Amino acid sequence: MAAHPSLQTIPPDVVSLPDHERRARGHLDDNAWAYFSGGAADEITLRSNRSAWDALTLWPRVLQRTAGGHTRVPLLGRTLAHPVLLAPVAFQRMAHPDGELAMAYAAAALGAGVVLSTQSSVPLQTVARAVLADAGRGPLWFQLYLQHDRGFTQALVQQAEEAGYEALVLTVDAPTSGARDAERRAGFRLPPGVEPVNLAGLQPPAATPLRAGQSALFDGLLHHAPTWDDVEWLRSITRLPVLLKGVLHPADARQAVRAGAAGLIVSNHGGRTLDTAPATATALPRVVQAVHGAVPVLVDGGIRRGTDVLKAMALGASAVLVGRPAVYGLAHAGAAGVAHVLRLLRDELEIAMALTGCATLADASPALLGGDLASAADEANP
Ligand code: FNR
Ligand code: LAC
Repeated sequence: MAAHPSLQTIPPDVVSLPDHERRARGHLDDNAWAYFSGGAADEITLRSNRSAWDALTLWPRVLQRTAGGHTRVPLLGRTLAHPVLLAPVAFQRMAHPDGELAMAYAAAALGAGVVLSTQSSVPLQTVARAVLADAGRGPLWFQLYLQHDRGFTQALVQQAEEAGYEALVLTVDAPTSGARDAERRAGFRLPPGVEPVNLAGLQPPAATPLRAGQSALFDGLLHHAPTWDDVEWLRSITRLPVLLKGVLHPADARQAVRAGAAGLIVSNHGGRTLDTAPATATALPRVVQAVHGAVPVLVDGGIRRGTDVLKAMALGASAVLVGRPAVYGLAHAGAAGVAHVLRLLRDELEIAMALTGCATLADASPALLGGDLASAADEANP
């Protein structure tokens, strides 16, 4: 890894997130491409994440006063310059030698929040040191996968706290990986030198040989999978707010609030875990309704345009996260590529706000998606 991220340039024909994706394809081998771009099984959820945002229409209001408007939003006690964070994505040095460090520099420069993966390929301390002092940075959060060794997990949480991370994001939608057909077809393996460095020293669970008829999943891995009791345990060992990532069902959203979650991230892991799970744009309004404003609700999955960000805010999201687009920017242009992706999203969001008559994101309500058209008709014909 370079001590300082190398400066790379953005080709002039790259003007959107889909352009970044096309560029990235030429910079990633089949192994890395299968890992970063792939989804679970038939990739139905992966595709529906995109198509569900596309299917929502924005109903612009004209002649609104938007001069002096802005993209600022409140989130967990602070004000963000704009509502876009980088989602946790593992093993980013497989996309670029600067990996998570370049991601964090770019996010800080653009005022975007960062959620660092437990499985990052740059140590959590290195990433935190690089950006903590930047006054314009967004929130710095650590994504947690509970490890089978709860003592190790507790030490990891302590390291994240000491390094300066400001919240924990417990991922709850991946007690096991999904059926990753694309990865299996590509024979995916981590290239030499790319490792989950935060998990160094973690011993594999003691292997208890399976008896005939036992399942490697149910009688093995799932003995270590987190449950609601672990949410309570996690809260008891940390002073940091704990958000849950990977909630789709409104009943789980209500339970998460009861369990003391500080926030929820509506996510289906970018279509990588349960295929045919609902698109996040479909789940979001149900979760928002279920939690009734008790905690902030964030969303990720398929967000590729400023209009997608605006739609998420209209459905009640407090902020959004992007996963793959940042990896694609990173893959072909390093930190500059990630910064460009974030800049494009923010520019597009401002344009979308101006063209829909929203001076601030507080003006984005379901009405923007046509939710009030029936009552508007009533107004016209009392
Ligand atoms: C992920 N995601 C993920 N989530 C998490 O909690 N911990 C992790 O380590 C990872 N790793 C990871 C690797 C790769 C290659 C991808 C694409 C995704 C899920 C991620 O945080 C996010 O939920 C999705 O990526 C959002 O969807 P989009 O923006 O990629 O469509
Ligand atoms: C993934 C894991 C690391 O989606 O969350 O690849």
